[in-house]
Amino acid sequence: MSQAPHPTGAAANSPAAFTSALPSYLDPTNLGPWGIYLQQVDRVTPYLGNLARWVDTLKRPKRTLIVDVPIHLDDGSIAHFEGYRVQHNTSRGPGKGGVRFHQNVTLSEVMALSAWMSIKNAAVNVPYGGAKGGIRVDPRQLSMGELERITRRYTSEIGIIIGPSKDIPAPDVNTNEQVMAWMMDTYSMNEGSTATGVVTGKPVDLGGSLGRREATGRGVFTVGVEAAKHTGMDISKARVAVQGFGNVGGVAGKLFADAGAKVVAVQDHGGTIYREAGLDVPSLLAHVSRVGSVAGFPHAEVIANDAFWEVPCDILIPAALEQQITEENAGRIQAKMVIEGANGPTTPQADDILHDRGILVLPDVIANAGGVTVSYFEWVQDFSSFFWSEDEINERLVKIMKGAFAAVWQVAEENKVSLRTATFIVACKRILHARDLRGLYP
Ligand SMILES: NC(=O)c1ccc[n+]([C@@H]2O[C@H](COP(=O)([O-])OP(=O)(O)OC[C@H]3O[C@@H](n4cnc5c(N)ncnc54)[C@H](O)[C@@H]3O)[C@@H](O)[C@H]2O)c1
Repeated sequence: MSQAPHPTGAAANSPAAFTSALPSYLDPTNLGPWGIYLQQVDRVTPYLGNLARWVDTLKRPKRTLIVDVPIHLDDGSIAHFEGYRVQHNTSRGPGKGGVRFHQNVTLSEVMALSAWMSIKNAAVNVPYGGAKGGIRVDPRQLSMGELERITRRYTSEIGIIIGPSKDIPAPDVNTNEQVMAWMMDTYSMNEGSTATGVVTGKPVDLGGSLGRREATGRGVFTVGVEAAKHTGMDISKARVAVQGFGNVGGVAGKLFADAGAKVVAVQDHGGTIYREAGLDVPSLLAHVSRVGSVAGFPHAEVIANDAFWEVPCDILIPAALEQQITEENAGRIQAKMVIEGANGPTTPQADDILHDRGILVLPDVIANAGGVTVSYFEWVQDFSSFFWSEDEINERLVKIMKGAFAAVWQVAEENKVSLRTATFIVACKRILHARDLRGLYP
């Protein structure tokens, strides 16, 4: 039987026959955050030894679900929103990762965030794979009722792939304990029994864990202190600049200030403020929780958003969104150390510039792993219905973060690579070793 010519002109069964003019998600160029992640995997591949034969596992999300989220708005009309849940890898355990509500959420972003969760969970050695979800919506435009309806409909839609032993969502940008409570309730109602372990970051009265809210910021602070010991920086004299003063940036800023550091600049979606002598962090946190932003904080100077990147400081903490440190601003950064509270805040090109300038980058995949570590504690507590004290939680968190950071530091020194590549080496080896042990089925 003769075959019709293939549209690319290639023989039907040759590899070229499977190429197309449209970019595949395996193409690292022009893919946004997912492309950045693919480049990071390429950088680590030479260090994976025999496990490199499995590396494509890391470049292909295991499962990607796109859902339609229709809700009734308060004015009686119906609105549809794009929702996603991506399970990047489940070789080491169930999927685990947050849910983001933001107007710029894209599939590429959710894919990248899910992959970074795989890396992060393996880096701190918690028994999870990586997953992430999101809805393309600006929740500030929604009423409380609309926010609840969108959360519940989204949870029902992704209910086919989540569950306490399948995939466990948690809060991320613009989602919080209340959103997790609605997610837990919706899943439980659909299942017919209360399943507290389906999400983490819940209110403490609903099976949440003490210390979870502060955990990511505490992890950021912990790795900062450890890195300072290695580099001889005195934290009590350090000047700190923070981008994003929400859950992660706000808590990290507070812990650095408590340790004697001066938080000299803070930027959030409302603007940028600066005070050379150090901002009064508790007052600023109270202002943000009252007003919703750092804008209008009385005891500081307002500076241009772009000037934030050249503020004189020792430690810079990006704790907002991804792709903030770029080729354009990396050359102007004054800090000696960048601690990535946010996920994916530095582009690979900016990473190289910071490296060449001798600025130490503590990468997201280890620096912000405190949140998922305490999420793991929450999940364990939910399964056993036995809850630990806040001191126990903080102690175990600090122990895990210190141990994971020390291991990554050692791998970086041994291989003369950046801490990001070192974290990827540790994590990718663990993931691919699990894949190798499990084999392929069917
Ligand atoms: N919450 C967690 O446990 C956790 C864990 C790991 C990583 N992260 C990551 O940390 C980052 C922040 O998460 P969060 O939970 O603190 O979110 P959040 O919603 O509590 O705070 C986000 C902050 O970013 C600021 N922001 C938003 N857009 C901005 C912009 N264009 N310029 C400057 N600032 C802007 C907001 O004003 C806010 O202060 C995200 O990248 C998230 O993925 C969060």
